Amino acid sequence: MKKIEAIIQPFKLEEVKEALKGIGVDGMTVTEVRGHGRQKGHKEVYRGQEYMVDLLPKVKIELVISSTRLEEVVKTLTAAARTGKIGDGKVFVFDVAEAIRIRNDERGEAAL
Ligand SMILES: Nc1ncnc2c1ncn2[C@@H]1O[C@H](COP(=O)(O)OP(=O)(O)OP(=O)(O)O)[C@@H](O)[C@H]1O
Ligand SMILES: [Mg+2]
Repeated sequence: MKKIEAIIQPFKLEEVKEALKGIGVDGMTVTEVRGHGRQKGHKEVYRGQEYMVDLLPKVKIELVISSTRLEEVVKTLTAAARTGKIGDGKVFVFDVAEAIRIRNDERGEAAL
């Protein structure tokens, strides 16, 4: 199993959620976060306004998926989140050791 942690523009959340739903990805965790990438000290646009980049609002999406679906999920997510401008965000991929459904102790991919 893999965990995808994607930091995206907040206004892209609905589009990304719909795209993931479209390929049958169900479980996810979404958190409002703040961050910056390599443009710190430069201008970035948020809701039509230019800001000096300190820590801008972003949305973090965490998904644990079967390793076999990694490329498909990353491709779908990045295509939906991309505007082509700076600040579109990043995707980090991690190995997941185990998943357990608390309700019935199902493990591994059965728990996703
Ligand atoms: N190296 C990193 N580690 C952790 N979080 C990061 C890292 N780089 C970016 N982020 C997160 O991703 C968000 C978006 O980053 P951003 O897309 O601006 O990256 P970038 O490297 O500056 O690329 P771009 O040139 O497209 O702007 C940041 O606000 C931050 O939350
Ligand atoms: Mg940036």
